[in-house]
Amino acid sequence: MATGTLHDAFVDELQDSYDGEKQLIKALKKMAKAAKADGLRVAFETHLEETQGQVQRLEQVFAMLDEKVKGKHCDGIAGIIEEGSSVMEEDFDDATMNACLIASGQRAEHYEMAAYGTLVAWARALGHDEAADLLQETLDEEKAADEKLSAIAEGGVNQEAAGAGSNAEEEESGKPSSRNGMRRVNASAFRAPAKRSSSRSSQKQTARRAR
Ligand SMILES: [Fe+2]
Repeated sequence: MATGTLHDAFVDELQDSYDGEKQLIKALKKMAKAAKADGLRVAFETHLEETQGQVQRLEQVFAMLDEKVKGKHCDGIAGIIEEGSSVMEEDFDDATMNACLIASGQRAEHYEMAAYGTLVAWARALGHDEAADLLQETLDEEKAADEKLSAIAEGGVNQEAAGAGSNAEEEESGKPSSRNGMRRVNASAFRAPAKRSSSRSSQKQTARRAR
């Protein structure tokens, strides 16, 4: 007969998140160093500080449950970090590197949002309301960090990266191609204060929800 309970699964998930946060502390330090723009570097550094607080919050939750503070290797975050590390080794122009760092960061944030969403719901179901409130604080921070990254991406990084690509092609060929010229026109239209159409973009959807 099965003996594991939702309480066991809850503690298991807490251990997974505890390890994941610790992995992310190391990764965020590297991402901040790799960022090629001050705003992005500051965003990673700010979230690094928040992540240190999130580790402490998890320690408080373990204490509330009379459970030992313990991590269990989080394979999911490890995989996301590994993908991010290989991106950092690529020979991208600065703007494209920033766009890729944001993409990697957002993968991690969404993974964490899923994990903390579950933890909050399970804590409530098990009657651990105080723990649920603490975990909700972390969930809110993860959502805010994701939205901040979307805002940075859409506030110019993506377009700068798109522009850097066409400039590099021009330099290589020695003359502006009509395709590049077209792309530049599109880019300047995109920067106009009027509405932007990128309904397929998850970054846009996240930003819209934030309002
Ligand atoms: Fe986190």
